[in-house]
Amino acid sequence: MKTSFPKNKIRVFLVEGIHPRAEAMFREEGFAVDAHDKSLSGPALERALAGAHVLGIRSKTEVDAPALGRAARLLALGCFCIGTNQVDAHAAASRGIPVFNSPFSNTRSVAELTIAEVIALFRDLAGKNERLHRGEWDKSAGGAHEVRGRTLGIVGYGRIGSQVSVLAEAMGMRVLFFDIARRLALGNARPVRTLDELLGQSDAVTLHVPATERTERMIGRAQLRKMKKGAYLINNARGTVVDVPALAESIREKRLAGAAIDVFPVEPAGKGERFESELRALPGVILTPHIGGSTEEAQEAIAADAAEKLIRFINAGVTSGAVNVPEVDLPAQDAEADHAAPGAPRRHRILHFHRNVPGVLSKMHAVIAQLGVNIAGEYLQTRGDVGYVVLDVSPGKTDRIVRSLSDLPETIRVRELW
Ligand code: NAI
Repeated sequence: MKTSFPKNKIRVFLVEGIHPRAEAMFREEGFAVDAHDKSLSGPALERALAGAHVLGIRSKTEVDAPALGRAARLLALGCFCIGTNQVDAHAAASRGIPVFNSPFSNTRSVAELTIAEVIALFRDLAGKNERLHRGEWDKSAGGAHEVRGRTLGIVGYGRIGSQVSVLAEAMGMRVLFFDIARRLALGNARPVRTLDELLGQSDAVTLHVPATERTERMIGRAQLRKMKKGAYLINNARGTVVDVPALAESIREKRLAGAAIDVFPVEPAGKGERFESELRALPGVILTPHIGGSTEEAQEAIAADAAEKLIRFINAGVTSGAVNVPEVDLPAQDAEADHAAPGAPRRHRILHFHRNVPGVLSKMHAVIAQLGVNIAGEYLQTRGDVGYVVLDVSPGKTDRIVRSLSDLPETIRVRELW
């Protein structure tokens, strides 16, 4: 497939109430934008896909292989959220359509919620609040503690865990962490060699690991028994990491003093569905409906991050941050032109997605050599069965190169940048 357009012909279709920052960024680039609040499905989605060069969705709009098959103009798809399960990313890759998301824009929000919960647990805010709402005036200091000088154990010292570490130390906490990878300790935080060591020394344990086979129920009955009596557990990571019945048991038996849990093995699909858990109505347990990353700031950061990735792809062919196609980072053509000799003609850029099979590059080179065109820059990456090459060529015969490349049987899609 061959595509080439001027910038002001790029049509962006945004659904599901994506933060307006994204729309503003696309408009600044001169793209036409249609923004809608609702998610789309069926014929409405097909109509949107038929006309859009860029589609921006959140988690509710499902884009499957047949829908992509009818999206003749689609150049890129943006998931303005963390996950990309709602999209058939493999089918998109096989059509040369990069899928972008924004996995880390809510790191700070999760870290802040965690810190709020550390203090709330040490002061039994949940219990005090609930009793006062019932009319019970309980002014006692019993069981309420400052966090200063207490030990926080962080399991998983990645983006979120390390931010929690910095914030906790700023409040005077001692920080220990356990990670399977070597991680640079920030401030005075200290790594420990085993999970058990961390559990035995911490007054509160907070989990920030991904859902993997290895982290599934990594906090079970045996691990809960290794925690200090009266300690707290926080899980803002993934529901599969904690054995919930075992946690409920240790709260009921008063071995743990409390917990704050934001994620659950089974979560309601939407607003109307009832939430069931052994943890409901247990004293000292703060329950939140998977809102660790849900802040207006995070939504804005997601909009800016995903929009920037889409704009860099449309304008320069950059695929860094794509979840399904080879990642190629490139200088903008304007930036390159700044370094070119004065008066040198501006290069043309050609983007080529192809099947990753032996010999395809030499065929491309042969096509271009036959036209007597010089390749000034070439950037190639492959991922699975898809290859992506960006060519900067001297101007003059770009149209003919694009035509010849689109005739190669291995070609998935060729696009010429203006
Ligand atoms: P990250 O990838 O930056 O850090 C994860 C860390 O865990 C890495 O350092 C990794 O080496 C470590 N790790 C992996 N397996 C481990 C194991 N078995 N034992 C010890 N350490 C292990 O991830 P990030 O961005 O910090 O996210 C952490 C978790 O938070 C993820 O599960 C993510 O899904 C969740 N999350 C939850 C949100 C919410 O709304 N509650 C929002 C955003 C993220």
